[in-house]
Amino acid sequence: MHGGVGFFDPDLPPRQQVLGLLYGKWVLGALRALVELRVPDVLAAGARTAAEIAEETAADTDALHRALRAVAATGALEQRAGGRFALTPLTEGLVSDAPKGVRDMFLLASDPLFWRPYEDVAHTLRTGGTALSHVFGTSFYDYLRAHPDTWALFDRAMEQNHWPASDRILDGFDFGRFRRIADIGGGKGQFLAEILRRHPSCTGVLADQPHTVAGARETLEKAGVADRVTVVPTDFFAGVPAGCDAYFVKHTLHNWDDDKAGLILRGIRRAVGDDAGARLLIVDLLLRGPGEWDVGKLMDVEALAVIGGRERDRGEWDRLAAAAGFRPANDPEPGSLALLEYRPV
Ligand SMILES: C[S@@+](CC[C@H](N)C(=O)[O-])C[C@H]1O[C@@H](n2cnc3c(N)ncnc32)[C@H](O)[C@@H]1O
Repeated sequence: MHGGVGFFDPDLPPRQQVLGLLYGKWVLGALRALVELRVPDVLAAGARTAAEIAEETAADTDALHRALRAVAATGALEQRAGGRFALTPLTEGLVSDAPKGVRDMFLLASDPLFWRPYEDVAHTLRTGGTALSHVFGTSFYDYLRAHPDTWALFDRAMEQNHWPASDRILDGFDFGRFRRIADIGGGKGQFLAEILRRHPSCTGVLADQPHTVAGARETLEKAGVADRVTVVPTDFFAGVPAGCDAYFVKHTLHNWDDDKAGLILRGIRRAVGDDAGARLLIVDLLLRGPGEWDVGKLMDVEALAVIGGRERDRGEWDRLAAAAGFRPANDPEPGSLALLEYRPV
């Protein structure tokens, strides 16, 4: 699969095909507005005309019709005879509370927090600093602290952060060999819960910021594992809970540059102490080699310009881990989410 081809418009002369990239902005703008107005929720009850949807969402009928028509032209909605619009499998996940849904993830990823920095990526290229701090005058996490609604959206979106590759990792890696697994930056414990559900002999420690773990009990109880998890409000830059034989860090180190990520890993190394059997388990994107298609290389632009983090290839992960006192213990496939196992040295 070469996902890059679809960005350009083969119906245009070669020198103009790059303009096809703009179609993404037009569709995203229209679809985000429809999701903000909860149009997918209305359509979940059945196909509707633009006038009917406008009535239910307090929108302008003509403007709404044009956005619906544009999105339907991409196949993300279906425009039927009689002017009715319907969801397709591409938009069913945008309905509130849809099983395996991505509404909050979609809204977060297209929120002004993640959108406006794209106005000035050139600033990032000139200075190496985030465009986000240039546009908003603050850092990523300070922005979240100052915008509680966005922070709540961020936390909800993380609960939908369920890559298909996550299931392969959950099913393919033997977590059962560990006694006590710490999930560092584990959010509300959604992934730790999945691990413990599959491995009844394991116990867990959930370590994340106080306001995030405050909402963890419900997730852990829903999964039936709350009695096997100790929840520890943690600032992972200051240190992490000791006494575990696996330290799991998923989708978190990529949010930080090497200095900050190294601080987290050194905290884990201190917690491991002289337990030679303990393991560091990093789950993050593992980038493919030069010139190969890899959506992770695109996400790295967001890491660079918005968050101030980075996606990494094998060499970059190993150097980071080595500097904290770990060496590789497995050899996962690059190109998606991977579990990198490290042993202490
Ligand atoms: C991108 S989320 C990943 C969450 C979860 N591991 C997952 O895969 O869905 C990063 C997590 O790091 C947490 N985090 C950020 N700064 C932190 C800090 N200083 N100490 C502890 N956790 C922190 C956030 O609260 C958030 O839950």
